[in-house]
Amino acid sequence: METKRVKDSELVLSQFMQPEHANNLGNIHGGVLMKLMDEAGGMCATRHARAPAVTVAVDSLTFLEPVHIGDLVTFSARLTYVGRTSMETEVVVEAEEILTGRRRITNRAYIVYVALNGQGRPVEVPCLSLETEEERERWKQGEIRQKERLVRRTQQSL
Ligand SMILES: CC(C)(COP(=O)(O)OP(=O)(O)OC[C@H]1O[C@@H](n2cnc3c(N)ncnc32)[C@H](O)[C@@H]1OP(=O)(O)O)[C@@H](O)C(=O)NCCC(=O)NCCS
Repeated sequence: METKRVKDSELVLSQFMQPEHANNLGNIHGGVLMKLMDEAGGMCATRHARAPAVTVAVDSLTFLEPVHIGDLVTFSARLTYVGRTSMETEVVVEAEEILTGRRRITNRAYIVYVALNGQGRPVEVPCLSLETEEERERWKQGEIRQKERLVRRTQQSL
């Protein structure tokens, strides 16, 4: 099986936030941010697998600060851990106040995708080569999170 690097699939999506993205408080709707986070993570996973990837789990999704109309928001996605057919991505959201340049990290999440074959069944994905100490540390943490998810999955299906 082929091996790919983290940098081969990592990406950044950008979106300028407009009034149609806001909730009735005037902040950007959490669902809009979640959709874009899922899109960024999904494209990163698809890029690694070069196969369609579906979302199976989202965890540690936090909203640290509100995002406002007029912010330029980036969604940075990279792989942290890869199983046989599953891939964990870390997605970090950063909002930039376009007039002042002030930047804030507003959201973070770990999202897991599974690559599918033409029959809609899980298919093996390339291995991930870890090139830096940070990548190795993220992998260790991702492996722990994935074990915990699978325990929860078993408990939920009882
Ligand atoms: C993805 C799907 C086909 C997997 O089917 P399945 O019968 O659970 O397949 P498996 O048990 O072989 O699991 C496949 C992989 O997913 C992982 N997985 C399954 N459920 C998981 C969960 N809740 N959390 C984390 N990983 C999970 C398994 O560990 C396995 O990974 P591995 O091959 O790296 O070890 C099925 O769960 C599905 O269709 N889910 C709906 C996806 C969807 O519609 N998403 C929203 C829109 S994109």
